[in-house]
Amino acid sequence: MNKKEVKKRIKKLRDEINYHNFKYYVENSPVISDYEFDQLLKELESLETQFPDLVTPDSPTQRVGGEPLEGFTTVEHKKAMLSLDNTYNYDELREFDERVKKNVGEVEYVVEPKIDGAGVALLYENGTLVRGSTRGDGIRGDDITSNLKTIRSIPLRLRGKKIKNIEVRGEVYFPTEGFEKYNKEQAKKGEPVFVNPRNAAAGSIRQLDPRIVASRPLNIFIYYILFSDKDFQTQEKAINALKEAGFRINPLTKKISNIEEAIKYCKVLEEKRETLNYDIDGAVIKVNSFSQQRELGETSKHPRWEISYKFAAKQATTRLNDIDIQVGRTGTLTPVAVLEPVYISGATISGATLHNFDELKRKDIRIGDMVLVERSGDVIPQVVKSIKEKRKGKLKKKGIPKKCPVCRSKIVHKEGEVAVRCPNRMCPARLKWRIKYYASRDAMDVDHLGESTIDKLIENDLIDNIADLYNLKKEDILTLEGFKEKSAQNLLDSIKESKNQSLSRLIYGLGIRHVGKYAAQLLASQYNSIDKLAKVDIEELKEIHGLGDKTAEAIGTFFATEENIELINKLKNIGIKTHEVARTEDMPLKGKKFVFTGGLQSLSRPDASDVVKQKGGIVSSSVSKDTDYVIVGEKPGSKFEKAKKLGLTILDEEEFKKLVGK
Ligand code: IVH
Repeated sequence: MNKKEVKKRIKKLRDEINYHNFKYYVENSPVISDYEFDQLLKELESLETQFPDLVTPDSPTQRVGGEPLEGFTTVEHKKAMLSLDNTYNYDELREFDERVKKNVGEVEYVVEPKIDGAGVALLYENGTLVRGSTRGDGIRGDDITSNLKTIRSIPLRLRGKKIKNIEVRGEVYFPTEGFEKYNKEQAKKGEPVFVNPRNAAAGSIRQLDPRIVASRPLNIFIYYILFSDKDFQTQEKAINALKEAGFRINPLTKKISNIEEAIKYCKVLEEKRETLNYDIDGAVIKVNSFSQQRELGETSKHPRWEISYKFAAKQATTRLNDIDIQVGRTGTLTPVAVLEPVYISGATISGATLHNFDELKRKDIRIGDMVLVERSGDVIPQVVKSIKEKRKGKLKKKGIPKKCPVCRSKIVHKEGEVAVRCPNRMCPARLKWRIKYYASRDAMDVDHLGESTIDKLIENDLIDNIADLYNLKKEDILTLEGFKEKSAQNLLDSIKESKNQSLSRLIYGLGIRHVGKYAAQLLASQYNSIDKLAKVDIEELKEIHGLGDKTAEAIGTFFATEENIELINKLKNIGIKTHEVARTEDMPLKGKKFVFTGGLQSLSRPDASDVVKQKGGIVSSSVSKDTDYVIVGEKPGSKFEKAKKLGLTILDEEEFKKLVGK
């Protein structure tokens, strides 16, 4: 075959393979045998090996990508990925319907199962999948393209010619059967298991090695078009177009004429729940017409044109073996049920919250009782009630302790207040949570400092605040059980490394109430230093868009507390970075879009991305005409070619370092 013929054959093979792939994985009705399919794939692979320049990223041979990643690039969602407003009973659904009708008149609905998996977005340009990302915090997610490509029901190329450019959203899930099998095998090997299919899905798509992802039986349902170059009038039509383009749509999606019918259908779905090979935790009710959807609009959190109906939680009975008392980060004492392990839909539960002592008393739950336990979605399992009919003999009640179970301080229980607190800010239990939070992945990310190490450090009196971590000596650590020369050094190294973490991580790690990751980033980029932040007045904080009054007040309280100021001074003296180099006003790379391709020599991708972001730039995963800089490392990919074609500014590593002042 000459090259032209090879090209033609390759195209033919790809079309055929894509077609059979679609029949098999999306429509579930294969037309050829696995053997025949493998033959086609083998032929394509062999041609592509002979002519590597003909390999394209959307070839069916490219599902399982090469090397593990060092970290994920951040993706800015073109439109915030909102969450859904929830309802828990049918009357609330009727109220939703009233609101909708008041605003836009008569409506039709589409009802779909609410898949309990991990939300993702898929972007197609010119018919080719160019980017897949996680939902993240709704504003920014992680680029997980190579992981999503391993899911066979995600088309690498769209079918037909109708749609070329589109971004869709869907839910990746771990099928229930596969989940049980996976956990069994893991347990046999003594490896960690997932608590439920949702965590399994979310954990799998955030694996750095696409080969591991490929080995898991993930699947997807698509339910939403974010934008496309073709307009649709209704959800129903959009869904049909998505089907035609090769996407996998949930077969239980149904158009419905009014709310009462929708409620009936919610019941049908709830009954079907146990028979499906994926977890669903509710139904989603959507206004069918897109023009009515636009008219209804959205709040800052969720669309006004759709709502979810959450199914009743799943329950089981088991014995309450004991009641433990936990002391939280803020000193609140919480009674916790120690249960005889019981299996509830995909997870074995051995502990559940009893919320607080009032609740315990009101529900009259005693040690030794048979109790009804329920678990719904991502909330902590809870004890619903004790089954009094099964109570035998005299069982012990658990009242409010007089002393903190950890530090023995006299506990505080204010008249009329539910919370029972340990007032001792130095209580080892509280300290432990604070340190754990400070060292956590999203905060200062201190490797090797897990819960049991923190426990040992506290028990041995080696630390009584965060700053003490930085004064630890190797001799100290070596006195702890289980530590050897190397592990002690590793711990010291990671603690030292954390000194240079970004300001936003430090702010988050301080554990100020209501200040999550997003708020911390906002504060860091507004104020650039802890000192400035500590001096801002609450009213000014309230003005910051996206912060909220409660958060502003909590920040004020935090910095008005002497101990916290002392801690910050200590951290500064130790040399922890408490300010950011770039100031908001003069962030030199503000709004500039960067794309990296190929390996960098002197810094890792995550570090390079951080530098860009600190200076106000945006890191994106795909090249387009509004990309400002393309940074090219060793063995660059197709992004390099595209950048050249578009005539973009291309920098090598040295030039990049100069630009960012490294
Ligand atoms: S529509 C505004 N439809 O549930 C968000 N979401 O709790 C648009 N989900 O983030 C969502 N099945 O990840 C929609 N049929 C379905 C869904 C669904 C599962 C997830 C989705 C969303 C979350 C909200």
